Amino acid sequence: MINQYKTRICGIECIDEAGKLLREGELVAFPTETVYGLGASALDEKAVEKIFIAKGRPQDNPLIVHIAMWQDAEKYAEVTKDAETLFKAFSPGPLTLILKKKDMVPSVVTAGRDNVGIRVPMHETARLLIEKAGVPIAAPSANISSRVSPTTAEHVYEDMQGRIPLIIDGGQCGVGIESTVLDMTKEIPVILRPGAITAENLTKYLPKVLTHKGEVLVAEAPGMKYRHYAPKVPCVQAKTPEGANKKYDEELSKGNKPVIIAREGFVTGSREFISLGRSAGDYAKNIYKTLREAEKKYDILIIESLDGEELEKSIMNRMNKATQGVWV
Ligand code: TXA
Ligand code: MG
Repeated sequence: MINQYKTRICGIECIDEAGKLLREGELVAFPTETVYGLGASALDEKAVEKIFIAKGRPQDNPLIVHIAMWQDAEKYAEVTKDAETLFKAFSPGPLTLILKKKDMVPSVVTAGRDNVGIRVPMHETARLLIEKAGVPIAAPSANISSRVSPTTAEHVYEDMQGRIPLIIDGGQCGVGIESTVLDMTKEIPVILRPGAITAENLTKYLPKVLTHKGEVLVAEAPGMKYRHYAPKVPCVQAKTPEGANKKYDEELSKGNKPVIIAREGFVTGSREFISLGRSAGDYAKNIYKTLREAEKKYDILIIESLDGEELEKSIMNRMNKATQGVWV
């Protein structure tokens, strides 16, 4: 395999030739937004075997199948509702989903597994190449096994010179580390390899994700990202009576009608004050009702901010949304 080819590097002008090479069962290295890939037609067993030889890759390490648009995924895998949601949110992009494979995909691609990794690269040259080839492209990173992944065409050349006919140069990869690999076949999706799409990104769309460190990350309830709990008039949080009183006096001097909303003992002198009761429990019980009443009568609400662990934290979660995190 070594020195079998006079390896050429060329730009987008070779895309048609590259597509043809892939259709004919040859290997072509190509840029993606993460790292360069070493591609073969994913539907051609013999071509895929060449990848393992060129890289010196262990036969039991499965390959990612690259497609031009996520809607094609169902030809090769069972796309669950959650998978569809993630594809819509993150494809094209640096996310690989492991899904139950369909028979179309030869077992050499998946190293004999029932599951297949599928990804839609963001790099336009990569997607164009898939379209030109007319087949999905199985591709690992285009380095010799156990070496650093290549992020330029020259890196690929260093490793693959003589082993493949063509490298498409698409410049330096923008992301620079390999895609996030997410196993969607488990009850709680598992990050097998972390990448630019993080567990936090994923929990915007999934209730739970198991991180590669084995921690379960639980999503905030879907609505939590919106500005709920927002009164119709501006509100701010005050940590101390002094801060609240200062803000109050400023607003008053601007001709506004402020009010301080706090628990008993928050010393406000003769300023307009609405009591929320004594405890955190009283605060929680009274706050929404108070906000509704206060927004009808006042121009600005100055709300006591709570310190503390349990209920205090939950209350402040809501108040941070109400005030959009504005403190005085
Ligand atoms: O960003 C990337 O993912 C790059 C570009 C070229 O797309 N590709 C890449 O491929 O990094 P590779 O082969 O170097 O890494 C793929 C990773 C490996 O850790 C492999 O074990 C895992 O994904 N993987 C692939 N298919 C799998 C499957 N069916 N089940 C579990 N893991 C899989
Ligand atoms: Mg690799």
